[in-house]
Amino acid sequence: MVYSPKTSTTTTTLSLLLIATHLISIIPSTQASPASSSSQWSDNALRSVERAEALGSAVKTSLVRRAGGYNSPLDNGGYMLTIVNGTYPAGLGEPLNVILSADSDKEVLVKSLDDGGFLNYMLVAGQGEECLGQHLGSDQSANLGDGKGNVTEVEELRYNYGNPYIGTCQETFNGGLHLRYWIQNTTNAYFMAVSVEMDLNSGHDIVPNGYNLGRDQLVGNLTGQAIDTNTLTNTSTFSGTGSYENYTYQTDVQYVSGLLKNSSDDINHYLTVEENGRPAIDGLVAVLTVKITARPQSSGAWSAIPQIPMITVLVPLLLSAILSLF
Ligand SMILES: *[C@@H]1O[C@H](CO)[C@@H](O)[C@H](O)[C@H]1NC(C)=O
Ligand SMILES: *[C@@H]1O[C@H](CO)[C@@H](O)[C@H](O)[C@H]1NC(C)=O
Ligand SMILES: *[C@@H]1O[C@H](CO)[C@@H](O)[C@H](O)[C@H]1NC(C)=O
Ligand SMILES: *[C@@H]1O[C@H](CO)[C@@H](O)[C@H](O)[C@H]1NC(C)=O
Ligand SMILES: *[C@@H]1O[C@H](CO)[C@@H](O)[C@H](O)[C@H]1NC(C)=O
Ligand SMILES: *[C@@H]1O[C@H](CO)[C@@H](O)[C@H](O)[C@H]1NC(C)=O
Ligand SMILES: *[C@@H]1O[C@H](CO)[C@@H](O)[C@H](O)[C@H]1NC(C)=O
Repeated sequence: MVYSPKTSTTTTTLSLLLIATHLISIIPSTQASPASSSSQWSDNALRSVERAEALGSAVKTSLVRRAGGYNSPLDNGGYMLTIVNGTYPAGLGEPLNVILSADSDKEVLVKSLDDGGFLNYMLVAGQGEECLGQHLGSDQSANLGDGKGNVTEVEELRYNYGNPYIGTCQETFNGGLHLRYWIQNTTNAYFMAVSVEMDLNSGHDIVPNGYNLGRDQLVGNLTGQAIDTNTLTNTSTFSGTGSYENYTYQTDVQYVSGLLKNSSDDINHYLTVEENGRPAIDGLVAVLTVKITARPQSSGAWSAIPQIPMITVLVPLLLSAILSLF
C-alpha cells in the first residue's frame, strides 16, 4: 500500500487511523471476519446476522392502510431535505428518504444497543456507530417541523462490512452505505438520510443513483430481499424479518410519495447522482413499521464481547505508537 505525501494534518491523521485499522484487523476474530478490502460490496454482514425467513416481495394491494406514525415536516415549517453548509450552489440538501414510524414497538424507538433498541435494529443492516467513535463526516442539520428548528443530526451510522467492531472504519475509507438520523420530537419517529457514498479520496461524493440505492439497500438488508429500485412506485410494499443479538424484527415497508419530489431540485451532489436521464431522487420515502417478534431467552443477557476490551486497550496503544514515529 502506498501513502503519498500529504500536507494536510487531517489527511495525515486519517492515514494513521487507516494504518491502525489495518493493524487491528490482524487480531484474530471469532465473531466475524473482516471483509477482504478488495471486495467493497461484501455481504459478510448478512452472513453474520442470523436471519429468519424473508417473506418475499409481499402484499401488493391498495387496501393496505397507509403507514402513519410520523408528521410530515412540510406541514409545520420543516423540510424533507437536510441542511448542508457550504454547498454550491447554496441551499442544497440530502433527502430524508427513510422514516422509522412511531407506530413501531416502543423498544425499537429507543436509541440504544440494549433491549432490542434502534442501534441493535440497525445492526441487522450492518449499520454501526462510526469508526472508533471518531466522527469523520461533516454535520448536517434538519428541521422536522417539530418546533425544534434546525437541529444537528443525532449521529451518523456506517456500513460495517460484517465486522461490528471496526468495520465502520472501512466504510469511512472505502465508502458505502451510510446514514444520518434525527428524531422527530412530537412523534418519536426517526427520519434518516440514507445514501451510498464514494470513498474518502473522492470527498465522499454520492454514487450514481446513490440516494435511491442507499434507501433500498437499507430496506433490502432489513427485510432480507433485494429491492429493485427501478420498479418502485408509491404502492410498493415489502415485508420481512432480520435478527441481531437474538432479537428478531419484522419490518413492514411502504414506499410513499408526496413528501419528496421526483426531481433533482435542491439535491446535494445531484450532478454525480443523476443516472440515465433520471432525476437524482425518485421522490419515494420508505416508511418502516417494526415489531420485535422474538427476544433473547434471558433478557439482560446481552453478550459480553471478548473483542471489545482488547480493542479498547490496543487502539490507543497503536495510535500513540504510530504517532511517536512522526
Ligand atoms: C452551519 O452554519 C451555521 C452558520 O454558520 C452554523 O450555525 C451551524 O452550526 C452550521 N451547521 C452545521 C451542521 O455545521
Ligand atoms: C434553518 O435552515 C434554513 C434552510 O437552510 C434556513 O433558511 C434558515 O435560516 C435556518 N434557520 C436558522 C434559525 O438558522
Ligand atoms: C423532545 O424534546 C424534549 C426537550 O428537549 C426532550 O426532553 C424530549 O426527550 C424530546 N422527545 C423526543 C421524543 O425526542
Ligand atoms: C445490504 O447492504 C449492502 C451494503 O450496502 C449491499 O451491498 C447489499 O446489496 C445489501 N443487501 C440487500 C439485500 O439489499
Ligand atoms: C420519476 O420520474 C421519472 C421521469 O423523470 C419517471 O420515469 C419515474 O417513473 C418517476 N418515478 C416515480 C417513482 O414516480
Ligand atoms: C401515487 O402517485 C400518483 C402519481 O404518480 C398519484 O396520482 C397518486 O395520488 C399517488 N398515490 C398515493 C397513495 O400517494
Ligand atoms: C442466541 O441464541 C442462541 C441459541 O439459542 C444462544 O446459543 C446464544 O447464546 C444467544 N445469544 C444471545 C446474545 O443471547
